[in-house]
Amino acid sequence: MLIRSPEQDIQRILFTEEEIAARVAEIGKELSARFAGQKPLMLCVLRGAAFFFTDLCRKMDCMMDMDFISASSYFDGTKSSGTVRLMKDSSIDMTGRHVVIVEDIIDTGLTLSYLKKLFAVREPLSITTVTFLDKQTGEPNRENVDYCGFLIPDEFVVGYGLDYADYYRNLPYIGVLKEECYL
Ligand code: IMP
Repeated sequence: MLIRSPEQDIQRILFTEEEIAARVAEIGKELSARFAGQKPLMLCVLRGAAFFFTDLCRKMDCMMDMDFISASSYFDGTKSSGTVRLMKDSSIDMTGRHVVIVEDIIDTGLTLSYLKKLFAVREPLSITTVTFLDKQTGEPNRENVDYCGFLIPDEFVVGYGLDYADYYRNLPYIGVLKEECYL
């Protein structure tokens, strides 16, 4: 059986590989300045933020610890389930640490506010939030994120780590998925 290429399911490209690399380098520079002389604990929210996280950390000029956590408010669909599940926690002690949560995309904002609350009780020195994409959903009372790669319209996007039903993560750019692929 011949399986089609993921490219065929993309309606249009929002950000190219080059645009992504340039923006990630800018955020890396800002975070390097923010954490100069510090040793932040960088937390990657799996699996969507994996590529962003590894690219970003390589653009940061400071000592750091890295860990990987897994949380999800999506279950194979394109809509949030409304509840967040923590599938993998960090094993690193956060007490007195500068904790940086790195997300792929903010949609309803539920995942991020859940993680912030969860880690705040562990008495870190600070919690900084970074997202690659921020979806303009007009969600009321959504928490502000400290650093954001790009603002995007309220459409379902894939690539650069973001998936639909676990596919398309390996696309090197951010694209809008054709509606017929998930309807
Ligand atoms: P939130 O809790 O509603 O902010 O959802 C955040 C999570 O939903 C992200 O970490 C993604 O895994 C997923 N998500 C939201 N929008 C999209 C999208 O357009 N494409 C792929 N995943 C998305």
